[in-house]
Amino acid sequence: MTILVTGGAGFIGSNFIYYLIKNSKKKILNLDLLTYAGNINNLVDVPKERYRLIIGSINDFKLVSSILNDNKISSVVNFAAESHVDRSIHGPGEFINTNILGTFNLLEASRSYFKSLNGDQSINFKFLHVSTDEVYGSLKSEEAPFTETNQYKPNSPYAASKASSDHLVRAYNKTYNLPTLITNCSNNYGPFQFPEKLIPLIISNAINEKNIPVYGDGLQVRDWLYVEDHCSAIEAVLKKGKTGETYNIGGLTEKTNIDVVNIVCDILQDLKPRKKGSYRDLITYVKDRPGHDTRYAINANKISRELNWKPKKKFEEGIFETVNWYLKNQEWIENIISGEYKNWIKKNYNS
Ligand code: NAD
Ligand code: TYD
Repeated sequence: MTILVTGGAGFIGSNFIYYLIKNSKKKILNLDLLTYAGNINNLVDVPKERYRLIIGSINDFKLVSSILNDNKISSVVNFAAESHVDRSIHGPGEFINTNILGTFNLLEASRSYFKSLNGDQSINFKFLHVSTDEVYGSLKSEEAPFTETNQYKPNSPYAASKASSDHLVRAYNKTYNLPTLITNCSNNYGPFQFPEKLIPLIISNAINEKNIPVYGDGLQVRDWLYVEDHCSAIEAVLKKGKTGETYNIGGLTEKTNIDVVNIVCDILQDLKPRKKGSYRDLITYVKDRPGHDTRYAINANKISRELNWKPKKKFEEGIFETVNWYLKNQEWIENIISGEYKNWIKKNYNS
């Protein structure tokens, strides 16, 4: 059985590939365009007998079709995306191209491949689309967490592009009977996250004696999930989920941004004490992100009830391990910030 993982050189995709290597016997093909967010260094420890990288785009119909057919792919897990809200505000075009048109292309190629399958291959084929809780919009403090029946109300171009791709995936199930599954997950944290996202950015800035930017009042709330728990949830949905369905995945860990920033600063202070003062002194409140969602929170009762999945890692433990990982892998961060990411920051923020 060969699984096609798209975007497997990114944060969650590379963690998912390690998860599959450890917890299954599947062979893995990784189709990744290696954009600024894709990093082959993430995958150096993956055993080559079961894994192959194909550098290319989900937008390339011919390439995707030949990968599906030539390797008799048993399931597709689509992580490939532009994933950073701030980038989507500065340049939404790539988000429309990758997240909407790329997913459409992957669906088209999968539809025609699925039609050609017989017997067990047809019965077992699945297309799992990895999406986000951001499609549901923003919650007020008194509102109940998102369930799968919440209305889609995306507020950023990123969230809107993911919402649009979710609708396409649903439509391909209803119209063409493509066996699709959609997962909508809350904010992930853990190893290999690109240091433009909050947690690795705090660590990277702190150890480089740079200001730690907190948007607005820092009281926005996110529901944090350790990335390995997200991987186990995706595997559970792939194995036992009902096709045509959506599953929300969350960490049951709502925290304000400023709380997260303080926690990370304090762990850093213990593990690598700042020479002068405390890392908290680097915290700087900056102009808020336009359209900034106040709160995300996931009701994960459906996946818990139907697929017996629950997050295992407690936030206190996961965040400690995560900070420790980034400290031990400072070279990984340095390689990134000396490259394209730096140019993008220069172009968008410093000019
Ligand atoms: P990421 O930005 O770290 O990685 C994205 C990967 O996709 C990169 O390896 C990149 O090279 C690749 N890619 C981009 N365009 C491509 C294309 N056209 N063809 C092939 N590959 C392409 O993203 P991530 O944080 O790992 O997120 C993965 C998925 O999970 C995304 O779909 C995202 O919307 C979703 N998600 C992320 C989070 C989170 O907290 N990070 C939470 C919920 C859902
Ligand atoms: P982020 O990691 O970009 O994820 P998302 O926007 O998808 O939730 O941001 C997490 C939260 O942290 C979000 O509320 C925005 C905030 N934030 C900051 O306050 N400062 C920063 O420098 C970044 C990148 C994010």
